[in-house]
Amino acid sequence: MDAHALSAVPPGSPLAPDVRYAVAIVEPDPRLRMILAARLPTARQFESVESLAQELRSGRPTVGVFGPSMVGSFGFEQVHRLVTVYPELGPVFAAHELSTEVLQHALRSGARDAVQIDGTGEAVAQAVGRVGEVLRTSQSAVPPVAGAALPGAPPMSRQAPGRLVVVFSTKGGVGKSTVAVNVAAAMARKVDDTISLMDADLQFGDVSVMLGIPPDHTVVEAAASIQYADVELMRNLVTRHDSGVMVLPAPSEPTMAAAVPAEDMTAVCAALQGISGFVIVDVPTNFDDTSLALLEAADDVLLVASMDIPSIKNLKIGMQALDLIAIAGPKLRLVLNRANAQVKLDVREVERVLGLRAAYPIPYDLAVPLSINAGVPVVVHDPGSAASRALEHIADSLLGPAAETRRGRRKGAAAKKSKKSKK
Ligand SMILES: Nc1ncnc2c1ncn2[C@@H]1O[C@H](COP(=O)(O)OP(=O)(O)OP(=O)(O)O)[C@@H](O)[C@H]1O
Ligand SMILES: [Mg+2]
Repeated sequence: MDAHALSAVPPGSPLAPDVRYAVAIVEPDPRLRMILAARLPTARQFESVESLAQELRSGRPTVGVFGPSMVGSFGFEQVHRLVTVYPELGPVFAAHELSTEVLQHALRSGARDAVQIDGTGEAVAQAVGRVGEVLRTSQSAVPPVAGAALPGAPPMSRQAPGRLVVVFSTKGGVGKSTVAVNVAAAMARKVDDTISLMDADLQFGDVSVMLGIPPDHTVVEAAASIQYADVELMRNLVTRHDSGVMVLPAPSEPTMAAAVPAEDMTAVCAALQGISGFVIVDVPTNFDDTSLALLEAADDVLLVASMDIPSIKNLKIGMQALDLIAIAGPKLRLVLNRANAQVKLDVREVERVLGLRAAYPIPYDLAVPLSINAGVPVVVHDPGSAASRALEHIADSLLGPAAETRRGRRKGAAAKKSKKSKK
């Protein structure tokens, strides 16, 4: 046993993150080890990988926090070897500075996360909680490098790439993010397949705010790692939302949104398609190479407009400027948001002007801003609302027969339940 190993977390201790998994710090430098220990008071401490390995023989799920001295090729190699032998280990690298390169190497070594040691220690503690939760919900320990995915995580790979659904508009503020977030959440609740949501609005993306999740790993990091765009990397980068959606958010700071080339953005989509049945992409209102590339790559394009004259006028001009019909013709589906607005605009007139059928009308509904303020998708926050029903309909129609099967099963289960309760 390592001289620095402390006693195990007492069961039921309020400091214990979860007694069903252990937390271990591995850091040769005593000073750095103490810094990490101050942030993770329930963790056992080890000065070497070898001493941790002895401990791992017990087979207990363990979140291993590898300190700054381990952040380097030697440490990555050691962790890689360790996770191959001990699949019940969930490694997290804690670095002084978290660069994209460090993140790439850490994730490729088999680590489940890599974080920067911040002043409060919150980032490290949160990463430990997240990884511990994945280990805890795991029915049986599964090797993260060579084996299948853990429950709740996207599958390692799939035979055919998932469908790419791009949500676009030619005017800002019409409800693109609302549609993207809610359609993704509704789909994830309907089918067992993986539904991913990517925020391509790198400057002002608000998908993570709408879903109330921290933007831990972002599209920018995924794009920077795209040369390694393997399923394992994507699986580690996405954050799971309660609805089941796997989210790849935009950075929280617009300054972090370094110019990402269009081909890298489409490559990130393709990598997500490799682990998902559907990938929903929230695209900013820019007529740039990235938007065009995403529109071209899409299987379905949800073109969002709101029921006001400027929006429809912009849409008409934007469609002509982009030659949208030529780029995305048969894939285009018009989503008319706030379709019931009292604006003396006839839906049929809009359809005639645009040359597109208004496939999906969504009514104005106060439930939408209320849900956004609560950081919960409206389809979860207020499923009975008129907007939710309209958004569910979009999800159903994109899913096609897959949703019918699942819903049928659910209805059957609900009917059985109500019969039982009547007895
Ligand atoms: N059907 C609706 N009923 C009521 N409010 C709505 C509806 N759809 C969207 N909103 C509100 O409109 C605002 C803009 O929506 P959203 O952020 O989804 O638009 P956006 O097109 O993504 O904007 P941006 O161009 O800034 O990215 C939000 O505050 C949202 O609450
Ligand atoms: Mg938006």
